[in-house]
Amino acid sequence: MIFTERLEAHASRLERHLDEWLTPQRVGPAAPRLLEAMRYGSLGGGKRVRPFLVIESAALFGVAVEGALNAAAALECVHCYSLVHDDLPAMDNDDLRRGRPTVHKAFDEATAILAGDGLLTLAFEILASPDTHPNPAVRADLALALARASGVSGMAGGQMYDLEAPGKTLGEAEIRLLQAMKTGALITFGCVAGGILGEASAANIAALRAYGDALGAAFQLADDLLDVEGDAALVGKATGKDTEAGKGTLVSLFGVEAARVKLDELKQEALAALAPFKPRDGVLAEAAEFVVARKF
Ligand code: IPE
Ligand code: IPE
Ligand code: MG
Ligand code: MG
Ligand code: MG
Repeated sequence: MIFTERLEAHASRLERHLDEWLTPQRVGPAAPRLLEAMRYGSLGGGKRVRPFLVIESAALFGVAVEGALNAAAALECVHCYSLVHDDLPAMDNDDLRRGRPTVHKAFDEATAILAGDGLLTLAFEILASPDTHPNPAVRADLALALARASGVSGMAGGQMYDLEAPGKTLGEAEIRLLQAMKTGALITFGCVAGGILGEASAANIAALRAYGDALGAAFQLADDLLDVEGDAALVGKATGKDTEAGKGTLVSLFGVEAARVKLDELKQEALAALAPFKPRDGVLAEAAEFVVARKF
């Protein structure tokens, strides 16, 4: 199967799974407007790269897709929450996401804040639920890893650095740290989660972490390049905003050409990290190719 078809197939399964979770039958009596905003912010769009990584890294250890869907959905909930809040006027102030109005545009700001809160907490409800994994220690490990990837030393911390960047001149190390936190942490979680689900060895989890770290850095660098060179219709969000906002990116620091060289280095790093999984590393290797070449 070609890579994009595989990505789409997993995305459809994830979509159905998340759709089932986001119902009063699963979450209990919910304020209808809030549940509607959470559904709007998480269903019907997105590449679903992070869930793909959970499913494919779990597959390395013999975990079936069904056994990885809860962890994949939990991660996508945190990711979607991060996007809903990232788009708020107080943050990047964006009107378009995944080709449609952002949650605060379609609803209102307060509802968008609550929708983010609801998605973040739902992620942990999903991870803690018994059908995520029969072993409670595995569920606890997943929750611990996702909490660390999402919070003050992960995504939220990185978003803080991102907001503080305009007006400062960040060096390469500072930009890499900011991006490893705001974007890399959740992507790395996606890769490591497969190992946790499959009760993999510490060495294999370390290899997944190294792959995820390189892939996450590549993912944000590709996003920053798309902001400069991408087609807004294809990426489904406004482009040309990072320079205007004075964001700290490797593209602004080194220029497009040098950034492309660095992107290729990160891809090589990601591919090298997959060595322990040969010859079953094919799909994750293709994922690295996809991330650096993507146009959306
Ligand atoms: C966008 O992530 C935000 C970043 C971390 C760069 P994606 O490019 O994965 O967005 P969707 O989920 O496909 O819309
Ligand atoms: C987003 O980075 C990282 C998040 C944690 C959401 P960006 O602000 O560059 O993401 P886009 O370009 O809005 O998707
Ligand atoms: Mg942002
Ligand atoms: Mg943004
Ligand atoms: Mg961006």
